[in-house]
Amino acid sequence: MLVKIAKDRLRKGMFIESVSCPSHEFARRRFLLKSDRDMGAILASSATEVSINLGLGLDADGRQPDAAAAAAAGGPRRAPDALRAEAVRGAVSQSARALRASLGDIVSGQPIDMSSLSRAAEDNAGLWSDSAIIALEVTRLKSKDETTYVHSLAVSGMMTLLARALDMDEETAGLLGVAGMLHDIGKLLIPSEILSKPTALTDAEREIIRNHPEAGYRLLRSHPQIPPVVLDICRLHHEVLDGSGYPLGLRQKDLSTSVRLSTVCDVFEALTSVRPYKRPWTTTEAVNWMYARPHLFDRKMVIRLGSVLVDEPIT
Ligand SMILES: [Fe+2]
Repeated sequence: MLVKIAKDRLRKGMFIESVSCPSHEFARRRFLLKSDRDMGAILASSATEVSINLGLGLDADGRQPDAAAAAAAGGPRRAPDALRAEAVRGAVSQSARALRASLGDIVSGQPIDMSSLSRAAEDNAGLWSDSAIIALEVTRLKSKDETTYVHSLAVSGMMTLLARALDMDEETAGLLGVAGMLHDIGKLLIPSEILSKPTALTDAEREIIRNHPEAGYRLLRSHPQIPPVVLDICRLHHEVLDGSGYPLGLRQKDLSTSVRLSTVCDVFEALTSVRPYKRPWTTTEAVNWMYARPHLFDRKMVIRLGSVLVDEPIT
């Protein structure tokens, strides 16, 4: 639930949905208020009111609203992290539904609305920058019919987070977020009986799956508004530094920073996901495994991604 409060009632721990201020700094920015700097900036702005989200942070009186309500009703008091995980889970499944609709429109030949994709990527990145550990936990587990969408959201959030951690500019970080959402669109062109086949794939079926980057690239390139970096990531996110990746087998010198970043996030997300045939790896296990393969992955990016996604159990 969203409520508007006077800005002088702001407390750290509130989740800011919007600040009623034309200032560029807060335009379309959603975030968990954590720093004195952000608090000071809002107080110093011309805004008088701020909209806060009670599902994602403290209430208008600075309390954890759901926990207080549960205690008052005699129900079990739940840890703030568990409540937060529930809120993140809700936001992720809503975003997955929206992404399913957007990608479905693209596959069916409708024009791509880049500004709406950018906004969706920005909102998703906001969730990851406020709750990276919880978002990672929530997106590890995917139901069969939402796998591609939740994977794409997770990769998108990680790509923006990693871009910022590497001091890339905000415009690029935002574009990488969009690229993450679109990178596996080619999978939607694969018959579902192959994509989710429970038994071993034939060579021909494996080849169809390995063709998804090229198929996605061909689909997206028919839309002139898609930026080149998004096209590159769609086509090249399974390439690795020593040229043993696919579909083109490019080597390090031909892989841009953005493409290398997408590969690191894509592989990391796959390793840390719950799969029927393996337990999910922790961040540390995935980082160690990737770090030990510098012929495949950019080591600096692997370390930096690990540093923004440190393991912490949800209580
Ligand atoms: Fe892929």
